[in-house]
Amino acid sequence: MRIVSDIDHVGIAVRDLDAAVLHYGRTLGVEPAHRETLEVQGVEAVFLEVGRSAIELMAPLRRDSPVGRFLDRRGEGFHHVAYRVDDLAATLAHLDAEGVRLVDREPREGSRGTRIAFVHPSAFGGVLIELVEVPG
Ligand code: CO
Repeated sequence: MRIVSDIDHVGIAVRDLDAAVLHYGRTLGVEPAHRETLEVQGVEAVFLEVGRSAIELMAPLRRDSPVGRFLDRRGEGFHHVAYRVDDLAATLAHLDAEGVRLVDREPREGSRGTRIAFVHPSAFGGVLIELVEVPG
């Protein structure tokens, strides 16, 4: 039974979003496809398309936010890997039944019109996992 279908994106925490976008464009030739400010989560994110996947560069809007605290603790770098799933609610029920610790027990609204949920890093060797259901 296949649960995840693709790597949707890889999330990378940065301090200076504009500088990082310029750097990725100059060096790797990847262009911004989407920019979004999530006020509630205190983060601004830019998605750079890489084939069917993307790089999500994320910078905190304020220091006292999840990504702000992440940067203080661990510095810039890899933050999470996001897998695409067909049915997010069914995937969460499956993981829960497998005893996997979840951050989100219910799907919530993500960027780009997606529904998302996070899985606790303790369940995957310290790697924070985001599950993404793309509409349609
Ligand atoms: Co993400």
